[in-house]
Amino acid sequence: MKKIVAFGASSSINSINKTLARYTLSQVNNSIHVILDLNDFEMPIYSVDREKKEGIPKLAYKFKKILKTADGIIISFAEHNGAYTAAFKNIFDWISRIEKIVWFNKPMFLLATSNGDRGAKQVLEIAHSRISRGNPYQIPTFSLPNFEKNFTEEEGILNKDIKNEFEKALSLFISNVN
Ligand SMILES: Cc1cc2nc3c(=O)[nH]c(=O)nc-3n(C[C@H](O)[C@H](O)[C@H](O)COP(=O)(O)O)c2cc1C
Repeated sequence: MKKIVAFGASSSINSINKTLARYTLSQVNNSIHVILDLNDFEMPIYSVDREKKEGIPKLAYKFKKILKTADGIIISFAEHNGAYTAAFKNIFDWISRIEKIVWFNKPMFLLATSNGDRGAKQVLEIAHSRISRGNPYQIPTFSLPNFEKNFTEEEGILNKDIKNEFEKALSLFISNVN
């Protein structure tokens, strides 16, 4: 069975992106599901001086090892001031220091949501542009606007057109994984 790792790129306990990542993972059938919480990987703020003095934290290696064993990775990005949350960026910076390859060229599905009309599209573009570089797979993206209006735990994505868009992106991810 394929192993799929998913997380919301947010440290918020009630993160809507964690919810979207969990939902997306639940839609991938016949696979082993691993959901990560970024709070379990909190590390000192990256600095070149700290790296020189103290080395790379063990948690960065642990995070990277989990990615390495995955057959597919799902990330839903929260947008803070038009960019990654500090929680995600710090992990990204640390794991990028271990070796050149960060996401192991795995099949990935990148999502984002917010309660605004733009659905955190800006951070999704930033993430896609960075993460798709050199990855042999076409990496699907999906942004869910107005999360509170468009999503419930019971029914998932409510709007039919948006749901279709999600399904299309999801099926590309699944075919990349298989
Ligand atoms: C510091 C901060 C900056 C934010 N900046 C943005 C932003 O640039 N764009 C946006 O759509 N929402 C922004 N928001 C609102 C977030 O989209 C909202 O908090 C959302 O719930 C974050 O996702 P999460 O629940 O998964 O953490 C910001 C929120 C915070 C706390």
